[in-house]
Amino acid sequence: MKGVVLAGGTGSRLSPLTRVTNKHLLPVYDKPMVYYPIQTLVNAGIHEILVVTGGKNAGDFLRLLGNGRDFGLKHINYTYQEGEGGIAEALGLAEYFAARDSICVVLGDNIIESNIHHAVENFQRQKEGAKILLKEVSDAHRFGVAEIRGERVLKIEEKPKNPKSNYAVIGIYLYDCTVFDKIHRLKPSGRGELEITDVNNAYIEQGKLTYEVLRGWWTDAGTFESLLRANNLVAETGANKMEIARQQVAL
Ligand code: DAU
Repeated sequence: MKGVVLAGGTGSRLSPLTRVTNKHLLPVYDKPMVYYPIQTLVNAGIHEILVVTGGKNAGDFLRLLGNGRDFGLKHINYTYQEGEGGIAEALGLAEYFAARDSICVVLGDNIIESNIHHAVENFQRQKEGAKILLKEVSDAHRFGVAEIRGERVLKIEEKPKNPKSNYAVIGIYLYDCTVFDKIHRLKPSGRGELEITDVNNAYIEQGKLTYEVLRGWWTDAGTFESLLRANNLVAETGANKMEIARQQVAL
């Protein structure tokens, strides 16, 4: 299993904070935002990682992350998204890196408290298809929202006005190698982006999407409110147990 961190986009919702830098380089308590999704992958035992970035500050990722020493890694891969054609477009750039392996994708502005290694192990037993992670929230209309019946996800709607549940689809996705065929078939949505929700719905149509509910807190950090919440949550409770995980990485 390989890992992909998506850190493209302009972060326009955080302007003027993002006028001269990339959203994922902004601080979340004591670390740059992009550290958290990378640590999420490393904590799950995933050490082959690609960072997809974009915009005018891509070189700063290299200077910041280098070859991944802060995470106990020996190498990090990078690629560049021109423009911001959507999350699925950014993920499409990982096709060559993935080389038909399965992948764990983490959005660059998603921060979690706990470890996802159980979900990763369960997905490896699943053999094919996809797995998403859900979290119950009070503001589901801000996210992709899953309509669920028992063990099944019936459909995912992107930012619905009237959410069919309180279960937000968090920005951590597990995919088999068919994800790239699905991305090639996507059409841009009304807002002109290739949507990750359309990728997930394609797996649902094939009956190959499973889900788990995430333990511990989760937040995105792409708006002023959620960036403040992310800072407070990390300061109060710590995210991802970075120090411990760093010592445990066996390469
Ligand atoms: O945070 C979880 C939510 O993330 C999901 O519930 C939604 O289904 C999903 O669409 C996404 O919604 P957002 O509107 O919050 O996504 P946003 O445009 O903020 O992008 C999230 C990250 O994805 C961003 O930090 C970097 C990456 N990205 C995004 C775009 C649009 C790229 O790498 N390239 C892009 O073109």
